Amino acid sequence: MTAAPLEPPDYRRLFDLTGKVAVVTGACGILGRHFCAGLAAHGARVVAVDLERHAAEALAADLTSRYAIPARGFACDVARVEDVAAMVGTCVAEFGGIDILHNNAATKSREPDRFFSALEDYPEDIWRQVMAVNLDGMFIVARHVGAAMRRRGRGGSIVQTASIYGVVAPDRRIYEGSDYHGRAIDTPAVYSASKAGVIGLTRHLAAHWGPDNIRVNSLTPGGVDSGQNETFRGRYSARVPLGRMARAEEMVGALVWLASDASSYVTGQNIIVDGGLTAW
Ligand SMILES: NC(=O)c1ccc[n+]([C@@H]2O[C@H](COP(=O)([O-])OP(=O)(O)OC[C@H]3O[C@@H](n4cnc5c(N)ncnc54)[C@H](O)[C@@H]3O)[C@@H](O)[C@H]2O)c1
Repeated sequence: MTAAPLEPPDYRRLFDLTGKVAVVTGACGILGRHFCAGLAAHGARVVAVDLERHAAEALAADLTSRYAIPARGFACDVARVEDVAAMVGTCVAEFGGIDILHNNAATKSREPDRFFSALEDYPEDIWRQVMAVNLDGMFIVARHVGAAMRRRGRGGSIVQTASIYGVVAPDRRIYEGSDYHGRAIDTPAVYSASKAGVIGLTRHLAAHWGPDNIRVNSLTPGGVDSGQNETFRGRYSARVPLGRMARAEEMVGALVWLASDASSYVTGQNIIVDGGLTAW
């Protein structure tokens, strides 16, 4: 028996996002800026969402001039339902809908010094502030965007940024002698709990919206080199098979893959980009 001739699709276009509208929350952060640029570089019209209007609009202006696709900046606190409803309503009115959501915003609370408090004395108000953004905010944005995707009936891709500390516990020994922008760092339990929650939320949403062809996946970065002192970088890197921290831009490939048709049969997964840290 002779096989039917292969008629492959144009595989070079698998990652093409031309004509797609992509909302990215936490757009102005260390990773968010790269995520926005990666999506725009593949043809998406990016809606850069962050707390400050000025910063979001400046980022959108930069994306527009760099990639010649009109980007949009939007001030929105993901923990505030009214803000999120207004942002999604504007996207639907201006662009006809949203194809890609990157739920990426996270906070160290409004008081970073108290964010790093010892577990036994951890302040409940800080726990609440962090959960309100990292987990409740993800849910609020996903719920509004997912509902809009569903009404439109064209499917979509939702990517939610988690963390290795939602997958494994931090090895507290790596923080001895650490310094990051003038303070010793640590990973508090609220961060781990919020990011483990993101991974569970992802699975639930993926199962719920599967019939609507709305795919939902988590992207889990390992530690990104962003100005930590030598001691911390050395201790962290010693735990990583690739022997170093990540560069921010190394998270973009997984995002573009998850956002695009290249991952059209992938949903409910957690893609870990950590140099192998969780492999041993
Ligand atoms: N940098 C890392 O090493 C690392 C590692 C693992 C996971 N992550 C995750 O990756 C994502 C991006 O991290 P990053 O390093 O770019 O962080 P970042 O702190 O540099 O950026 C976070 C952005 O979110 C915005 N933001 C905070 N609260 C918000 C709110 N309520 N509404 C809207 N925007 C809000 C901030 O203004 C900021 O621009 C986060 O979810 C983080 O937990 C980062």
